[in-house]
Amino acid sequence: MAEAHDFVAFPASTRRARVLAVDDDPDNLKVLSTYLSLEGYEVATAGDGLSAIARIEAGDIDLAILDVHMPGADGLEVCRRLRKQPRFERLPIIFLTADRADELKETIGLEAGGDEYLHKPIARRVLALRVRNLLRLANADREQRLMAQVAHAEKLAGIGQVAAGVAHEINNPLSFILSNLSSLRLYFQDVSEVLAAWHRSPAEGLAKEAELKLESTLADVGPLIDETAQGGERVRRIVQELKTFSRTDDESLEPVDLADVVRSTLLLTERELSSRAKVVKALEPAPIHAAQRQKLHQVVLNLVVNAMQAVEARPLTGAGRHSIALSTRTEGPNAVLAVSDTGAGIPEALQRQIFEPFFTTKPVGVGTGLGLAVCSMVVHRLGGTIAVASTVGEGSTFTLSIPREAEAS
Ligand SMILES: Nc1ncnc2c1ncn2[C@@H]1O[C@H](COP(=O)(O)OP(=O)(O)OP(=O)(O)O)[C@@H](O)[C@H]1O
Ligand SMILES: [Mg+2]
Repeated sequence: MAEAHDFVAFPASTRRARVLAVDDDPDNLKVLSTYLSLEGYEVATAGDGLSAIARIEAGDIDLAILDVHMPGADGLEVCRRLRKQPRFERLPIIFLTADRADELKETIGLEAGGDEYLHKPIARRVLALRVRNLLRLANADREQRLMAQVAHAEKLAGIGQVAAGVAHEINNPLSFILSNLSSLRLYFQDVSEVLAAWHRSPAEGLAKEAELKLESTLADVGPLIDETAQGGERVRRIVQELKTFSRTDDESLEPVDLADVVRSTLLLTERELSSRAKVVKALEPAPIHAAQRQKLHQVVLNLVVNAMQAVEARPLTGAGRHSIALSTRTEGPNAVLAVSDTGAGIPEALQRQIFEPFFTTKPVGVGTGLGLAVCSMVVHRLGGTIAVASTVGEGSTFTLSIPREAEAS
């Protein structure tokens, strides 16, 4: 059965709308059918509530007109049963009754899920207009949902191949967040019990504390909270990085100088960097005609963070000091940026893999493995290249080269 999130079935635009008329009086049914046919609708009929439901469930009915009083399942009952099924939540339904106007009955009909509550005898023109208006609304609604689904599908395509990996990456921290929360809930219960015992008497309080081993429980709480927070932070980072993968954000293109991007990245990071390494800058103008500044900012940040982590991974003995160098320049038609470090280096066998999404050699909680994948995607969209040169135990250099006249594709 169709679920609420299923793709919307779009009625073939070429076919005429099909209206189901339901009445236990054959004469009424005939009049109604004639009216509707004259208005150009396809008409289906049913003589009682249950066959009306069966006919609607068979599909292809665009609107139903229900007599209220019928033996067996009456119109209200039919309407309620249909509304319980997600695929008929939005089916336009008109009640048509021989009763005299009665506010209470009308309210009940509309509460049962009817869209209109009309009285017999009804002028053909009025009925036709009500039917037309409801069908028009239903079509607009269907179209809107279809557009939303298309937009959604495009967004997913933008995230593309990383989606499956993302689910996995997010699932890990989420599962320990959830399991930590349930431990914390139990701990909280213990604490409440002990507190209640203390309120009764100090002796009971102490006894309860011992019984529930409160001391070890409390010692566990801090690390549990820290771990949970780290998990949340990790999910947040993954989501943040993923935004770069999505093509739907529409940051505008502007002229960007890589030297400026480096300067602004260092504004945020230089303090941190210089506590671990000597920061060497050689920033010549390296302008690009049209790019997304924010994305380039993220590229430089990812490279700088990697460099920082690489130098941390290879502590120097003695008085030696690591260095992290950033340089920008133009080279022929290209703007070039290089980030070098004297850190751990990368084994040759891994030098291709490091650009793949989720490839990381860092412990859980440190790396997500998205940094270089993001860099490479941003650079490739600008028609540029990213390369690495590295020797284990000596350091690495990442070099980006982007055509200056590039426009992001
Ligand atoms: N400057 C570097 N020196 C040594 N190894 C590096 C360097 N930059 C990247 N790497 C290696 O490449 C791997 C992938 O890097 P990437 O930036 O894509 O992910 P990460 O740093 O592990 O995690 P994230 O950037 O998502 O926090 C790293 O785990 C590391 O092994
Ligand atoms: Mg990284």
